[in-house]
Amino acid sequence: MKTPKRILPLVEEGLVDDVLRQLMSGKEATVYVVRCGDDVRCAKVYKEANQRAFHQAVSYTEGRKVKNSRQARAMEKGTRYGRKMQEETWQTAEVDALYRLANAGVRVPQPYLCHEGVLLMELVTDADGNAAPRLNDIELTPDLARRYHAMLIEQVVLMLCAGVVHGDLSEYNILVDANGPVIIDLPQAIDAAANNNAGVMLERDVENLATFFAQTAPELADTQYGKEIWKAYEAGELRPGMTLTGKVEVDHRPADVGAVLRDIEAVRREEEDRLRALQEMRH
Ligand SMILES: Nc1ncnc2c1ncn2[C@@H]1O[C@H](COP(=O)(O)OP(=O)(O)OP(=O)(O)O)[C@@H](O)[C@H]1O
Ligand SMILES: [Mg+2]
Repeated sequence: MKTPKRILPLVEEGLVDDVLRQLMSGKEATVYVVRCGDDVRCAKVYKEANQRAFHQAVSYTEGRKVKNSRQARAMEKGTRYGRKMQEETWQTAEVDALYRLANAGVRVPQPYLCHEGVLLMELVTDADGNAAPRLNDIELTPDLARRYHAMLIEQVVLMLCAGVVHGDLSEYNILVDANGPVIIDLPQAIDAAANNNAGVMLERDVENLATFFAQTAPELADTQYGKEIWKAYEAGELRPGMTLTGKVEVDHRPADVGAVLRDIEAVRREEEDRLRALQEMRH
């Protein structure tokens, strides 16, 4: 096919030889099948910033590292330079996450590079060599649903051990190749240690999996793997391949309300003292 304008820079650089066909046009990107020498690969072309406001919400980008504080200030202020920086940080976030996860042994497409807003990565294929279907598009038996669910929980643990929460995990962002589920679509990936919403996001990701697979294997609806995984992570006990039960113990001990109220009162007094001292300094 005729080379789309956004892929021309990669052709000029010799990174891509041919664009074979368009695979998909999603909310945030258009995906093409391309040829690089003898290899068939996948090129994801990000759409313009205003078409993907959702994932740029602070809840996702909090704690994301930028190169220096000048860039951080410009990004906060939304200057033209700041917006350009934001755009670049966004575009490299997915390739960074893919590298980190691929190196940790997570089943994600192998990334190659990100150039001018185009991510070049491995094309995930089915047994016949065609682009792999999404989890949502395949027929499941209860057994297969249980197996894929278990495999994906293991992948979520492996991801978190590498410090990453997907943030948008669902049957639409998982492909199925001959060996099972492969996780894709990571521009919104969250830095587990730096983002205060990471726990909530992780639980939501895992809940999405349970809800989807419970359509075929209903007993999965009552599992609580997300809470269990996050609890182990916070306790520093999360390990790849660890045994999980899907159950979390609920703490039935009565809350010590008196102690909480005393703590609050102590903080209030401290604040009063601080304000008084400030006022005295002014006079
Ligand atoms: N590495 C890959 N190999 C094979 N197919 C892929 C690959 N990456 C993406 N796709 C296909 O392109 C589609 C869109 O990719 P992706 O989810 O990364 O982008 P998106 O813009 O977020 O799309 P959506 O809005 O549909 O979630 C996927 O559902 C999948 O079918
Ligand atoms: Mg997607």
